[in-house]
Amino acid sequence: MKNTILITGASRGLGYCLTNKYLKDGDVVFAGVRDMTDPNIIKLKKEYPDTLIPVELDVSETNSVNRAVNSISNYTDKLDILINNAAIHNSSSFEILEKADIDDCMDVYNVNCLGAIRVVKAFIHFIRKSISAKIINISSESGSITECKREKEYDYCMSKAALNMGTKILANYLKKDNIIVLAVHPGWMRTDMGGSNARFDPYETACRLIELFKDRNDHDQPIFIDYEGNEYPW
Ligand SMILES: NC(=O)c1ccc[n+]([C@@H]2O[C@H](COP(=O)([O-])OP(=O)(O)OC[C@H]3O[C@@H](n4cnc5c(N)ncnc54)[C@H](OP(=O)(O)O)[C@@H]3O)[C@@H](O)[C@H]2O)c1
Repeated sequence: MKNTILITGASRGLGYCLTNKYLKDGDVVFAGVRDMTDPNIIKLKKEYPDTLIPVELDVSETNSVNRAVNSISNYTDKLDILINNAAIHNSSSFEILEKADIDDCMDVYNVNCLGAIRVVKAFIHFIRKSISAKIINISSESGSITECKREKEYDYCMSKAALNMGTKILANYLKKDNIIVLAVHPGWMRTDMGGSNARFDPYETACRLIELFKDRNDHDQPIFIDYEGNEYPW
């Protein structure tokens, strides 16, 4: 059965690869992008004219998210899968405490953590219409407090730890609606964010994650997991 899916940050990296793979599998994808003239998405739209619907969506702005709700409601009133993938990792993150620009951290927090919750809030009535809905928040090992060995990257790590907390609260709240909510560490990938030395190809990661998401149907399974489905320490 075809799924209807919304993916944020679909223009490149993991978001683009997830979009591409779901389209290959025959699903309908609403691809959230900040720039509707993005060449990756224009090219993909030519390949999948009926099942790819690009939607302008900046997760850091409530007005943009609400406009995306209006656009998508022209096509559907139901989403089976929402993937909150959009994120930023500013270079200023790599400064030590004495040099860190704390005001700059607000953007990262707004996109990486509040962005996901903002999108869930706006689309929850679409998600509740699905009989087996899933909300996937793309998190990171860097959001794990237990495993943290870093001495910098306050903004990124704190934003992902906060996203994990948001995921747990959503999972508690939406269990009664049979909505599965996960925070997933995708692994270190060769994307603009991960850099060219990273371990994983993002398309291979997308394929692996999509299989993993299909297997997650039980509310008693772990919520924070890695790309192999193993529980990750909060
Ligand atoms: N790469 C890794 O090794 C790694 C490791 C662990 C976790 N992750 C997580 O995996 C996810 C994907 O990462 P990636 O490596 O694919 O990143 P990426 O290549 O940098 O791509 C980030 C995507 O997010 C979008 N984005 C940024 N700000 C946005 C906003 N305000 N509203 C909407 N979209 C926005 C970008 O859109 P534009 O093209 O418009 O900028 C782009 O499509 C992220 O959540 C990241 O934190 C990545």
